[in-house]
Amino acid sequence: MSISELFPDPPASTVPSITIKRPDDWHIHLRDGDVLKAVIPFTTSQFARGIIMPNLVPPVTTVESAQAYRERILKARPEGSDFTPLMTCYLTEATTADEIERGFKEGVWAAAKLYPAGATTNSHAGVRDIQVLAPVFERMEKIGMPVLIHGEVTDWSVDIFDREAVFMEQKLLPLLKRHLGLKVVVEHVTTAETVEIVRAHAGRVAGTITPHHLILNRSSLFNGGLQPHFYCLPVAKHERHRLALRQAATSGDGNFFIGTDSAPHLRSAKQAECCAAGIFCGATALQTYVQVFDEEGALPHFEAFASLNGPRFYGLPVNTGTLTLERRPDRQMAAIEVAGEDIVMFRGGEQLPWSLGETRP
Ligand code: NCD
Ligand code: ZN
Repeated sequence: MSISELFPDPPASTVPSITIKRPDDWHIHLRDGDVLKAVIPFTTSQFARGIIMPNLVPPVTTVESAQAYRERILKARPEGSDFTPLMTCYLTEATTADEIERGFKEGVWAAAKLYPAGATTNSHAGVRDIQVLAPVFERMEKIGMPVLIHGEVTDWSVDIFDREAVFMEQKLLPLLKRHLGLKVVVEHVTTAETVEIVRAHAGRVAGTITPHHLILNRSSLFNGGLQPHFYCLPVAKHERHRLALRQAATSGDGNFFIGTDSAPHLRSAKQAECCAAGIFCGATALQTYVQVFDEEGALPHFEAFASLNGPRFYGLPVNTGTLTLERRPDRQMAAIEVAGEDIVMFRGGEQLPWSLGETRP
């Protein structure tokens, strides 16, 4: 059963196409090596820039390792691509304010990423006690560098569906009070309450929303049997939260923007005794977002969410070129091959109502 059959969302309009300023992906896992080479063409065909997640093994914690990773990404781009990777620093308890400032001033870091230790894939080197980073956050406030937060507590006694809400109450709100000038992106927002927290701190706090959290709810994970390819972190929540995310994304609210969180894992890591967290949505992200805006009767708000709100928050220029999305049914491959294995695509093999049209530089 396809996702669209599971969730009959409202009927779409008949607008034939929409042209927007070229969009950016403010949260993307491109990985490294063979996987990087296999997945990057999908991102470069959709987006002009991407905030590159640093959770490699080992993580990208130094300015030099970020520069080297940026070079590998630039080299892996398809010919003719002008895609710009924006690098992030993986925060650990050993990160120093000086390293942060040096990388930011040298134009290497666009932001720093905070993973609570153990919260998600390759986060074990992350942070156990956020307060240890107070000097780093003070410096980031001073230089205007944003911190991007994976907002989930890791405490086993907290129900997995409550971990984002508990993080926001116990960790994020106190952090915002301690560092009044700190710019924060709450990554991959999954709850109605987090939407409200972002709105309450408009201007200094923003939220990214993934395509899959606009489509899946927690029942999707168990529909007809356990669905490993719908498993990511933060895990999809109750239907009321999915509806709140659709409202937040499509409402025209300037505090929300694209962050696909496209997170490829080999099929063998997903269909395994212990399934890795992450959904590879890079190839169908824009087709999914525009479909949601269409279904919500909000196509006039799409350009802001896709192409304007992110640059404004990061203090970067809006892209100059345009991208057209067309109401033309299209089907992506179900999976992509990588080094003798494959990676399953989110909504791959499904007929999608929208497809990518022309990109103009
Ligand atoms: C991401 C990954 O695989 O790197 N996984 C995920 O479920 N989203 C990490 C992350 O962003 O949490
Ligand atoms: Zn991510």
